Amino acid sequence: MKVAVDDDRCRGHGICCALCPEVFTLNDDGYTTVEDPEVPAEHEEAVRAAADQCPERAITVT
Ligand code: F3S
Repeated sequence: MKVAVDDDRCRGHGICCALCPEVFTLNDDGYTTVEDPEVPAEHEEAVRAAADQCPERAITVT
């Protein structure tokens, strides 16, 4: 599974970072960065939850 964050949509709500800090980190500007788009199997559920709960619908999983 892969994950991407749309920089134009992210508003820094931080729900993704709270749900899965192993995958999502807030950068210095207060928006989310994904270091590695390849999601480890053990984090897939949390990443899906983050995608569902992001108010800006900025997270895409494929
Ligand atoms: Fe941004 Fe959504 Fe996360 S707005 S900080 S991708 S919860």
